[in-house]
Amino acid sequence: MKFDKPATTNPIDRLKVVGKPIHRIDGELKTTGRAIYAYEWHDPDNKYAYGYPIGSAIAKGKIKSMDVSTAKAAPGVLGVITTLDAGKLEKGEYNTANLFGGDEIQHYHQAIALVIAETFEQARAASSLVRVEYTEEKGVFDLAAEKGSAEKPDESQKPDSSAGDFDSAFRAAPVTLDQTYTTPDQSHAMMEPHASIAAWNGDEVTVWTSSQMIDWWRSDLATTLGVDKDKIHLMSPFIGGGFGGKLFLRVDAVLAALGAKQVHRPVKVALPRPLMINNTTHRPATIQRIRIGCGKDGKITAIAHESWSGNLPDGAPETAVNQTRLLYAGANRMTAMRLAKLDLPEGNAMRAPGEAPGLMALEIAVDEMAEKLGIDPIEFRILNDTQVDPENRDRPFSHRDLIGCLKLGAERFGWSNRPKVASKREGNWLIGMGVGAAFRDNLVLPSAARVVLGKDGIITVQTDMTDIGTGSYTIIAQTAAEMMGVTVDKVAVELGDSRFPISAGSGGQFGANSSTSGVYAACVKLREAIAQKVGFNSEDAVFEDGVVKSGNRSVPLAEAAGADGLVGEDKMEWGDLAKTHQQSTFGAHFVEVGVDIATGETRIRRMLAVCAAGRILNPITARSQVIGAMTMGAGGALSEELAVDKKRGFFVNHDLAGYEVPVHADIPHQDVIFLDETDPMSSPMKSKGVGELGLCGVSAAIANAIYNASGVRVRDYPITLDKLI
Ligand code: MOS
Repeated sequence: MKFDKPATTNPIDRLKVVGKPIHRIDGELKTTGRAIYAYEWHDPDNKYAYGYPIGSAIAKGKIKSMDVSTAKAAPGVLGVITTLDAGKLEKGEYNTANLFGGDEIQHYHQAIALVIAETFEQARAASSLVRVEYTEEKGVFDLAAEKGSAEKPDESQKPDSSAGDFDSAFRAAPVTLDQTYTTPDQSHAMMEPHASIAAWNGDEVTVWTSSQMIDWWRSDLATTLGVDKDKIHLMSPFIGGGFGGKLFLRVDAVLAALGAKQVHRPVKVALPRPLMINNTTHRPATIQRIRIGCGKDGKITAIAHESWSGNLPDGAPETAVNQTRLLYAGANRMTAMRLAKLDLPEGNAMRAPGEAPGLMALEIAVDEMAEKLGIDPIEFRILNDTQVDPENRDRPFSHRDLIGCLKLGAERFGWSNRPKVASKREGNWLIGMGVGAAFRDNLVLPSAARVVLGKDGIITVQTDMTDIGTGSYTIIAQTAAEMMGVTVDKVAVELGDSRFPISAGSGGQFGANSSTSGVYAACVKLREAIAQKVGFNSEDAVFEDGVVKSGNRSVPLAEAAGADGLVGEDKMEWGDLAKTHQQSTFGAHFVEVGVDIATGETRIRRMLAVCAAGRILNPITARSQVIGAMTMGAGGALSEELAVDKKRGFFVNHDLAGYEVPVHADIPHQDVIFLDETDPMSSPMKSKGVGELGLCGVSAAIANAIYNASGVRVRDYPITLDKLI
């Protein structure tokens, strides 16, 4: 099915199941420990071996030699694979750095060996016996120092944009702001590590892994191993968090497959926590310069956003200017991204890449500008709203209600009680409120599904879609139930298996809208098959209460299925609506903080998010997404930071003790409101992404609240107490 015209009324609009606050259908499996994650997969007929990976001790250079003889002789050891023995392996499409193979070291903790033993402990013990000689080369690791040498990335990255004449307008503007903001390297820090089990059967391999994007992984694993894609079977039914770190094939899957081949046994590999930080990807640090020029009336006449980030050769920039191309009006504008070559681990997508760090800068700048103008920051944002793409004014937004989010949030949060800067005190605490606009693109990806009606009347949905903790199982069940006129308990959902039709996968907040649209398309096919089977005209057939009806005839679905059952399969593809109309999601984040007048410690007191993201498919799972994202925003504002060893080139705080994510005590109170809206341009579901929106703008709202409380403007994240004193 191709979606190329705005959606009209369809069975989803009945909203008997879709849009309802249904608890996760996989919740019981998870809370009772019966949901099987990659490393836990157990087949009693198999005797698993354990692989322990070793990471490079240098950040750049070559391996001269590796001595594995002592390790091989250690108790329980079955084999050792080294990157030298493996030789150069071909790189998949989605990775920047080489995952394994060859003597070249591109970054610290790049995988150089796997020790395989009867037990995990034996493998880990033997790994310390591998001797490696390196030829170290000098690398560069400091973004600020390399800023001057940063270059314009390839045009495919859309590094620059402009409209009007920024320079003249900025010079002429009566009120101007020119500030620089910095965001640090950050790590996904998901709970479940990257983990895989590989088992060969002849020339075919099954890999249980933890992947957001089954088909990308399958293709890249095929390339890297040099085997046909159809010989690879990937399974990833449950995932303990992805955050972008599991979008692209990682080395655990490669090592498990190579190891299993060598020892002729299924092999389990999980990345130890320290390797996760430096072996995999991270969100790159940014330096962002923002200039805004305004008239005395508060209207933006000029706006510019430049961002510098670093990456390995062939890597991409952090797209921190994305939202500034679309969020506020202003006739004269420019954005630019520049990329420095760094020898740190690969930078890549993490938790709303682009907008999350971009809004950390932009939404402080907007707060600063509002203050210069003497205008309330909410009023300032409303004054500068736009209903068209400001760089290309012929292109409207499909639907945009940023103003609605700001106004409703202000009312519910009690914005009118916001104190004057540094004027409210309760004991040792200075109290303040801040706001930040939320913006995130609504991407769509092709997504296919198969829907089977069994003779028992059960509808089974099969798609390689993943559920990274987001609620995919549940919203897919709701979609199929709505389409087929049954209750959710009559739907079974099977995900995360490469034998199923290829879905959008989970990333970029495109998963929910895209994958349910694929299920919608497959259900349309199944409805046609059922109507034809029972002799109804498919236009007249009504599916409800477990039957298909037309005129005065009604047939139970179980009966219509017949002995063999019926199948509908289709793929949702996307026409030009996403190009002719800018599709984005909007929101407003409100935060109240207390700042300790003596220590500078910030405590968040209240948070509120108001989101406008089209139809909300399930308010429980959507809310969980948003409060999780708001929590990430708190981390980004107050604690999350990878400390770079600028001499040796690695992230020092490579565990969850040193890399500080918020804990329960950091998050006292969160509220989420969804505007009641639909976007018929987005899909037949009329829904959009919402998960990443929940993070975008949060950290700046916290920074702005800290300023309102204390009068100290910090432009360098995270806002730790030393920066306030
Ligand atoms: Mo997301 S960072 O695209 O998984």
